[in-house]
Amino acid sequence: MKVSPAKAQTARIAAAIDKLASFTEADRPYTRLVFSPEFDAARHWLADAFAAAGLVCHIDSGGNLIGTRTANLKKANGDKADGTKVLIGSHIDTVPAGGRFDGIAGVIAALEVVHYLNQNQIELPFDLEIVDYLGEELNVWGTSCLGSRHMAGLLTPEILGRVDADGRQLGNEITRIGGTNLGCDKVRSDADQILACLELHIEQAKILETQGHDIGIVTAIPGIYRYGISVKGQAGHSGTTPMADRQDALVAAADIIQAINRLASDIARDENQHFVATIGKIDVFPNGAAIVPGQVEMTLDMRSASAHAKSAFLAAFETICRDCVTRRNCAVDVAPLAAADIAPMDSDLMQNLSDSAAINGLSAIKLASGAGHDTAHLSRFAPAAIIFIPCRDGLSHCPEEFASNEAIAKGAWVLTSCVLALAGKPFQAVAKQ
Ligand code: HGY
Ligand code: MN
Ligand code: MN
Repeated sequence: MKVSPAKAQTARIAAAIDKLASFTEADRPYTRLVFSPEFDAARHWLADAFAAAGLVCHIDSGGNLIGTRTANLKKANGDKADGTKVLIGSHIDTVPAGGRFDGIAGVIAALEVVHYLNQNQIELPFDLEIVDYLGEELNVWGTSCLGSRHMAGLLTPEILGRVDADGRQLGNEITRIGGTNLGCDKVRSDADQILACLELHIEQAKILETQGHDIGIVTAIPGIYRYGISVKGQAGHSGTTPMADRQDALVAAADIIQAINRLASDIARDENQHFVATIGKIDVFPNGAAIVPGQVEMTLDMRSASAHAKSAFLAAFETICRDCVTRRNCAVDVAPLAAADIAPMDSDLMQNLSDSAAINGLSAIKLASGAGHDTAHLSRFAPAAIIFIPCRDGLSHCPEEFASNEAIAKGAWVLTSCVLALAGKPFQAVAKQ
């Protein structure tokens, strides 16, 4: 029988979503870039909300905000709590002119699990860590998922040493917001104590909505590979430089963009797998209307659900770049910025989440993710899984992004039933009958 979330729960969710949405650049809602003043203010509000839910807060070495609900119950078999942990979290940073739900819905849903446990005086045999993972969105340093990569020992000194156009060094920004930035190449020391890492996220596509399902059980998170492409030509006077003599870096870059789009479309069709490649960031220098562009810097974002498709793309990608620039008498340099291989989700946790959806009367399907998530990096050192909830028209990374309070509440029920099952309690519905 379909149950609707209680008004008190949807009202609490709505208030938290609205409050977090208020921490945005005034002229670009919703924009809360990592390390920005808006991000700092939202973090402070979130830490207070964690504390109000009885969580003990700290910032870990990678700059993640963690609220801990400490175990104080003997494990089912009579042993004392043995320091095991379960993590539930997502991210509150946004892309520029992003949405109010990408990441945020997951952090709010994680808090809803704590509210349920508190309201029902339920104690767990493991510590429950509610996490806002630092900087999940791609940033000016060219690497996304800063906090979860740090936990997985994947933030290399080279990445931490990167400096943005304003001279901000990434490692210094992490320490400025409370991380120690130490041990960046070591997996979290208690990784073997972590029973599960769980995340709720909006689908950012429209399978759930069009097929009328409440929950997506994610099977895998695609590999994500990013490259910096630097095209160098010769700046010149747009009025006096003959067409035949030009080394126009922007025309060469445009050829590269078109060729990459054709290659990716062919691979996506031939491989019949989720494969995408995008150039969404481009900077032209000197960027003057009366100047033939002398240099272009752009970022390639490539995602693949199969190693074969990724290899097919990479085998052709650099040759394409060189052929395009040669025709334009320009030069090109390609540099890897970030890489995260395909992350299959933990099958036992997927089953637990599937059973949790069923016992709460929710319809669920398995599906692959097209987007990247912190859970991909968490899966490198602990059992990890992520569930999706529907978002309207599949829109995301834009102000039109929308997920209902009811959908977030139902997703929180699934997380809660999953946590209770991990605690050795009988499978139980959380939805109020
Ligand atoms: O880029 C992504 O897939 C995620 O939204 N950060
Ligand atoms: Mn996200
Ligand atoms: Mn995102």
